[in-house]
Amino acid sequence: NIFPILLCGGSGTRLWPLSRKSYPKQFVPLVGEETLFQASARRLSGSGFAPPTVLTNADFRFIVTEQLAGAGIDPAGVLIEPEGRNTAPAVLAAALWLEKSDPDGLMLVAPSDHVVPDAEAFRAAVEAGRGAAEAGKLVTFGIRPTRAETGYGYLELAEVPADFTPRPLALERFVEKPDTARAEEMLTSGQHLWNAGIFLFKVSAILQAFRAHAPDLVAPVEAAVNQARPDLGFLRLDPEAWAGAEDISIDYAVMERADNLAVVPFDGGWSDLGGWDAVWREGDRDDRGVATAGHATAIDCDDTLLRSEDETLEIVGLGLKNTIAVAMSDAVLVADASRAQDVKQAVEALKAKK
Ligand code: GDD
Ligand code: MG
Repeated sequence: NIFPILLCGGSGTRLWPLSRKSYPKQFVPLVGEETLFQASARRLSGSGFAPPTVLTNADFRFIVTEQLAGAGIDPAGVLIEPEGRNTAPAVLAAALWLEKSDPDGLMLVAPSDHVVPDAEAFRAAVEAGRGAAEAGKLVTFGIRPTRAETGYGYLELAEVPADFTPRPLALERFVEKPDTARAEEMLTSGQHLWNAGIFLFKVSAILQAFRAHAPDLVAPVEAAVNQARPDLGFLRLDPEAWAGAEDISIDYAVMERADNLAVVPFDGGWSDLGGWDAVWREGDRDDRGVATAGHATAIDCDDTLLRSEDETLEIVGLGLKNTIAVAMSDAVLVADASRAQDVKQAVEALKAKK
């Protein structure tokens, strides 16, 4: 069985005003009926998977258990990080925790805020990576890039892949969040895939990689796990020990440095919903490109997203083009669709005003 590890600590500011610090995007039904977190947990359940382990922070712990219960999923554990320290300490903590029961087990680390419409195809890709992971490789999943995105990691293959059939391929290099020039080069090379942010490896293999590439993380995180306190069904990592762990992502701490990587190409549809433009693209659109959600009405609009999350607040768009409008009871965003990635500026501007 594969142990799913769901990372659930991010805040998703580009989806403001829907995604909030206290209630980030993974807990919201952005696309479809279930929340992104519920859909992620469901994608990694069923035959071949052990119950999931969730890593989150204290603020989200009850949202996590409530949403898992709502999806009918009983977790193996919910580990609470005293503070967000990014994904490297979180993954290391999960690995150390699993090591106690199954050091040779396989763990599948996945974000909880992505959309993967074809769960079946995704599970087939995971299965395709199993052999390589059992052989000690750190397996990544590669998406065919469609733009020079600088917010992603890139996976450099040894050669241009003949096709996108999921099977493990050798990886030359992992480049996390390149600058625009480098991203443009990698987009045109045909030899690079986007890192989906999903990883499959043996518990022992990732622990060895942490010891080799991020040795300073090991002692504080190990102490935080060994001194963790059970609390109402949660496992609270020790705050004092945890405070000694560097704030760094697994991509920078391990993946960019390791030389035992493999990649399984995955072409079954994937989005990290990194902004309102992506929500618009992934949602149901009419033939004029209009997506509405909640209490929203579009009249004579093109390529527009309209959402109202508040039942007392009706939003009506009239003759709009390339517009994003999202209304909550306490805040409304109206933006040109081309500026979707700049929404985090809005959040910063509001923070500065306070
Ligand atoms: N538990 C926990 N604790 N989870 C965290 C923390 C933390 O401190 N920080 C982030 N996460 C969760 C987020 O909620 C998200 O689900 C996942 O870990 C990845 O973190 P992001 O902050 O969203 O990473 P990113 O989008 O900048 O980059 C990663 O994902 C890209 C694809 O979406 C990298 O892996 C890139 O290489 C990749 O292309
Ligand atoms: Mg992300």
